[in-house]
Amino acid sequence: MNSTLPGYKDKPLFTPGPLTTSRTVKQAMLRDLGSRDSEFITVVRSIRERLLKIAGVEKGTHEAILLQGSGTYSVESIFSSTVPRSGKVLILVNGSYGERMIKICDVLNIPKVVLRNPENEVPNLESLREELAKDPEITHVAAVHCETTTGIINPIQLIGEIVKGHGRIYFVDAMSSFGAVPIDFEACGVDYLVSSANKCIEGVPGFGFIIARMDEFMKTERYARSLSLDLYAQWKGLESNGQFRFTPPTHSLLAFHQALIELEDEGGVAARAARYRKNHEVLVKGMRELGFKEYLKSDLQGYIITSFLYPDDSNFSFETFYNQLNDRGFVIYPGKLSQADCFRIGSIGRLSGYDFTALLLGIEKALKLMGVTLG
Ligand SMILES: Cc1ncc(COP(=O)(O)O)c(C=O)c1O
Repeated sequence: MNSTLPGYKDKPLFTPGPLTTSRTVKQAMLRDLGSRDSEFITVVRSIRERLLKIAGVEKGTHEAILLQGSGTYSVESIFSSTVPRSGKVLILVNGSYGERMIKICDVLNIPKVVLRNPENEVPNLESLREELAKDPEITHVAAVHCETTTGIINPIQLIGEIVKGHGRIYFVDAMSSFGAVPIDFEACGVDYLVSSANKCIEGVPGFGFIIARMDEFMKTERYARSLSLDLYAQWKGLESNGQFRFTPPTHSLLAFHQALIELEDEGGVAARAARYRKNHEVLVKGMRELGFKEYLKSDLQGYIITSFLYPDDSNFSFETFYNQLNDRGFVIYPGKLSQADCFRIGSIGRLSGYDFTALLLGIEKALKLMGVTLG
């Protein structure tokens, strides 16, 4: 049967999200619940509790706050509603999601210091230490955990130890890692962590969430520079009557609740990490056998998403390669690097080693048809 036949079967998404979700997660959305319905409010409460459990933190010391929009809205909400007017942010950048934080601070007129490293290197800890020591005006430090631009895993614990050693507030963008890469909140000293529905928890797009350490967060009332992204007001709303202040993405929340149950059924973060790691291993082994090379050194490479260098062959065109794979029912992802020609393949979502073996066969076939030979 033709995989392009409408309604036949969705193509597996080897992307960083939106990603392939389970049938049962999709089925959970086939409901129309009112946003003030007590059943819906129970679902929202359960989501918030389950997120804290995944994070390994307790209600009271921490809160999970859900916010409409894609992940960027949640990232922006942290900057716009937890940094005071007198605040200054140090941003660690080694990819486009760190670059986006700079843009957010520029739009919000938040003073900032940027420590930039090449996309294939982790942040320089010595420079961080020096900068914090010499600039007492810096109040917050922001870092990205898995920089999805390349798939590099930044050392958030080592960064956190320095940030906390200097008594600053620490914000981690764990968009593409939370739920599948263990994060020790206490050891990392995280004050605010952000992720979204359509990443490693395997829900569908519609909202992001912030896990906040309450002793810091409680100081931020009236800090907000935006009404809809006011995190404190959002938390107050959720706490007072269990409701969102403005229309919630009800279907997406229902799907996410089911996705959380499925994450627990799978065995939690450790089991999900094991499946994604296996996916990544099957992929990298097969790609190396075909002659591809990864962009990152293996010790920096995480198992969430992998960047592969374009083959050194003039017959290779990414567009043709992408379309050849798409026609065979595989969706991969373009590169986003400023310094090298790469494409990316994600290991996350409802995929197993079997899907990656099939993808590798598709890649081999596509290369043959394009007349590409790898060295
Ligand atoms: C690390 C990271 N931060 C932020 C974002 C932005 O999220 P969104 O595209 O949902 O706005 C992404 C998206 O992939 C990401 O991977």
